[in-house]
Amino acid sequence: MEEKIASYLKEVAGFSAENLEQLEAFRIRFLGKKGLVPALFADFKTVAPEDRKAMGQRLNELKTAVQEKIVALKEGLDQKGEVTGSKLDVSLPSAGTLGSRHPLSIVRNEIIDIFSRIGFTVSEGPEIEDDFHNFTALNFPEEHPARDMQDTFFIEKDPDLALRTHTSSVQVRVMEHSQPPIRTISPGRVFRNEAISARAHCIFHQIEGLYVDEHVSFTDLKQTLFYFARELFSETTKIRFRPSYFPFTEPSAEMDVSCNICGGEGCNICKYTGWVEILGCGMVDPNVLESCGIDSNKYTGFAFGMGIERITMLKYQVNDLRLFFENDVRFLNQFKSAR
Ligand code: DAH
Repeated sequence: MEEKIASYLKEVAGFSAENLEQLEAFRIRFLGKKGLVPALFADFKTVAPEDRKAMGQRLNELKTAVQEKIVALKEGLDQKGEVTGSKLDVSLPSAGTLGSRHPLSIVRNEIIDIFSRIGFTVSEGPEIEDDFHNFTALNFPEEHPARDMQDTFFIEKDPDLALRTHTSSVQVRVMEHSQPPIRTISPGRVFRNEAISARAHCIFHQIEGLYVDEHVSFTDLKQTLFYFARELFSETTKIRFRPSYFPFTEPSAEMDVSCNICGGEGCNICKYTGWVEILGCGMVDPNVLESCGIDSNKYTGFAFGMGIERITMLKYQVNDLRLFFENDVRFLNQFKSAR
């Protein structure tokens, strides 16, 4: 028996494996149910009592040598990446799936950039808003349809709370807490109870703009938005204003830009008019200034609000708004090169 153990110990010491199969065969040869080590333990009965202690030690020495060999060889094979079991090789180069910014973030950042170059700061407000900030302070009459259950998501537990329907609510918060001059834009998510389609969604993004100071006029509004449109689209972009109505501005207007696809010639994006609507704007209604604690005899201001989805659709010719929310990588990958 001693001879066998000595020769096995030699074999174990000299063994090496090139792959996991060889190592497994080695384990089975020595430690498997019918392996050499269990066979020796079976023979142990025949050892003379006076030799048992020494022989038992030798046997354990062999068993430990086999186990240690297996652990050491397995570690070496794992590091070489020859692990057939897990197929994981952390040293392989990546398949090239780098992340990129979402198109809505790209456009939001660009709009923020454009306005920050002319002194606008960024301000934010809560998405869950109370009636005062979303409607009342903005001069919405009690019976205004925008307050209707059909448009607004109310919070069941508290009828005074709702998901904000526009970022105009941030105007109110800014004016409540600061005095003119105020020059700020407020990007954020807004919520409306609308059926989801290619042109509408119940969650979308807006950017609100507000400028309040002494002697702010409609000319300032026009010049600011003209600069913005040319920076965002192109140097040749033209703008036009159409009279409109919003409770919080007087006078109010909607602004169109010359179609960035056909340059004003007429195409299916602009429905052959040469113009596309991009935002609502106007002079801040004195009632709004007063609701927010700003002296409307001393100060005037302009405000504007635009949908980021709409502008992104125009800029990148995306024809279905739902694409922005599905996060299909085939869509998102197309914006890789944009900043
Ligand atoms: N809040 C308006 C909307 O959600 C957009 C808007 C229009 C904002 C005119 C303004 C504004 O600040 O002056 O449709």
